[in-house]
Amino acid sequence: MSLRQALKEAKYILAANDIRDAALESELLLRHLLGISRVQLYLDLDDPLVREQGEAYRRLIERRTAGQPSAYITGRREFYGLEFTVDSRVLIPRPESELLVEEAIRLAGGLDAAPIIADIGTGSGAIAICLAIKLPQAIIYASDISAAALEVAAANCRRHRVAGRIRLLSGDLLTPLPQPVDIIVANLPYVGRAEAAANGFEPSLALDGGPGGTDEIERLCHQAAGKLRPGSVLLLEIGQGQDEDITSLVRGLLPGSVVAVTPDLAGIPRVVSAVLPAVHTTPCG
Ligand SMILES: C[S@@+](CC[C@H](N)C(=O)[O-])C[C@H]1O[C@@H](n2cnc3c(N)ncnc32)[C@H](O)[C@@H]1O
Repeated sequence: MSLRQALKEAKYILAANDIRDAALESELLLRHLLGISRVQLYLDLDDPLVREQGEAYRRLIERRTAGQPSAYITGRREFYGLEFTVDSRVLIPRPESELLVEEAIRLAGGLDAAPIIADIGTGSGAIAICLAIKLPQAIIYASDISAAALEVAAANCRRHRVAGRIRLLSGDLLTPLPQPVDIIVANLPYVGRAEAAANGFEPSLALDGGPGGTDEIERLCHQAAGKLRPGSVLLLEIGQGQDEDITSLVRGLLPGSVVAVTPDLAGIPRVVSAVLPAVHTTPCG
């Protein structure tokens, strides 16, 4: 069987099992198996797939039709133009979280030359690592409550040669931070418990935000004032429909801050930002 025939068969099986982007996924898994680039795959389309390779490819397709995400099968995922190692210990970084990185970089422009940044719930480390690369002067903390996730983050820090730039911290939300910071960026779990339980592959710790989805984000908001310097920035990724509750909570807890919501490419309100006044004010009453 040629590579072309194997791809056609795999695409048919994936589509019949309701896997979206069946053509792209069949290519991705074949390239992973053969260790070749997309260009090379197209050049080799009429080459034969030897029997062992054909069987291995079939097994990969079976894992995919069983629902395993392709990023866990290949062990990698691209985020903000960089490739990250991922496995079942961490959430697979989502394209919409690139907005958090963009906002952090934009808002860092108005701060000190060497801002102190904390990425809370770092998972694979993708957000912290992108910020370390794009903001070479920044001092960066990256924390997670999952020791297993921090192992993956550490591997990605080494892979991108920023291990010396990012201090990994273990613990609940902002409690492990040794000092107040200039930017807190957090993509915490924000999926409702029932929906998180239905995922089945990614860690529930990364998805489950309590019955309504916002428990962890709300807890972080309550801790934030104690860990933010005057003039600093809080950036929170949120789920669909959570913007009104979270913005009003942030306004109440961080008085005088300028609160905004930025939509993602699909137009869904995705990032809540709060820029604190340069001097802290205290709530009245
Ligand atoms: C939605 S994932 C985001 C991972 C990564 N930042 C990303 O964007 O791909 C949420 C992460 O928060 C971590 N987490 C959940 N509850 C936490 C808590 N109370 N304190 C610190 N981290 C927490 C999870 O272990 C998980 O790695």
